[in-house]
Amino acid sequence: MTSDLIVRNATLPDGRTRVSILARKGRIAEIGTVPQIAGAREIDAKGYLVSPPFVDAHFHMDATLSLGQPRMNVTGTLLEGIALWGELKPRLTHAAVIERALRYCDLAVSQGLLAIRTHVDVCDDRLLCVEALLEVRQKVKPYIDLQIVAFPQDGYFRSASAAKNLKRALVLGVDVVGGIPHFERTMEEGAASVKALCEIAAKRGLMVDMHCDETDDPLSRHVETLASETQRLGLNGRVVGSHLTSMHSMDNYYVSKLLPLMAEAGLHATPNPLINITIQGRHDTYPKRRGMTRVPELRAQGINVSFGHDCVLDPWYSLGQGDMLEVANMGVHVAQMTSREAMRWCFDAVTVNPAKAMQLEGYGLEKGCHADFVVLQAKDPVEAIRLKPARLYVVRRGEVIAETPERVTRLHLEDRPKTVNTADYAPKI
Ligand code: FE2
Repeated sequence: MTSDLIVRNATLPDGRTRVSILARKGRIAEIGTVPQIAGAREIDAKGYLVSPPFVDAHFHMDATLSLGQPRMNVTGTLLEGIALWGELKPRLTHAAVIERALRYCDLAVSQGLLAIRTHVDVCDDRLLCVEALLEVRQKVKPYIDLQIVAFPQDGYFRSASAAKNLKRALVLGVDVVGGIPHFERTMEEGAASVKALCEIAAKRGLMVDMHCDETDDPLSRHVETLASETQRLGLNGRVVGSHLTSMHSMDNYYVSKLLPLMAEAGLHATPNPLINITIQGRHDTYPKRRGMTRVPELRAQGINVSFGHDCVLDPWYSLGQGDMLEVANMGVHVAQMTSREAMRWCFDAVTVNPAKAMQLEGYGLEKGCHADFVVLQAKDPVEAIRLKPARLYVVRRGEVIAETPERVTRLHLEDRPKTVNTADYAPKI
């Protein structure tokens, strides 16, 4: 039996300080004041931020860590990325996909990222990636909540066997229904794919998470169909529109009508700042569009918005390290969400908001929630986004599953302090 764990002198994301947290039998048994308990392990958080774990609501674990296989993406576009992935697919092996995915999960744990929704390509008759990621989901269950989305990468109608394979994947145990309407042959087929996929989800009682309008084309309006199908089928609160980059380029009047429809349908939105800023706008000269969806406006409408990582070292993105604070940091910049309040919200966009979109049970820093949290070497959420600091302790179900030493630099300068801890530079606002 594992012993109790007590974290003392924690600062919480809501600003509370000098808080103690008691983890018992995998749950938060107390948060606030905790007496001494014989035999309990104690951690001194030293006034640093203790946050619920990071959550990534949008990722591609079948492709991660495959950068350079079989070649690099020269144009940097989404379409060359898809073509490149198509070249790699026949060469994939079950063992190699599992190995890359598990290595990524190790990295995720080291960053305090303990829940991931990954898409898995079902446009391969072998369903090799599906079977591999189902195995990975089982294997990492003690430390990562992994949700898998059946993703018809080459188009639900455009790829001959996608419809059949998507159903096979759901039978095998994939959790969520995906789609890619902007990649179908025509607007009509795109809209039809949204309808067909939402119907499958409704029939099976599943959630939906669609790559939707990941393009600079202002006339790519599949999110409208996604919202109306969500309403028609009573899927409210269970559907995510991912990317939604075309909204960046849409006509303002049209968006003023679209946002309330999305809110009415309880749609969640998951833009992916690192990828959207990198991949979109590639057909532009100058001025060059940012290609990220309208985050402040979605938020103002009451729509639940999360920031996803999407890619790490794969055909679409040659950087990344599983750090959701890097994602939030880019979100702050691209969406120009620079007020203190907006930056605090960007921290939510990589913690509580994606947990809501993924319907994670027992998530949060409240009594009765899972004892899952991260001690960060920063004093508050804004500082965490600024510094992307060390994850001093990563705790899952009341057990420390990763530790990183406090990052302190020794200075060899005369008449100056002997050490620098970047966390000490927090502004006094
Ligand atoms: Fe994606």
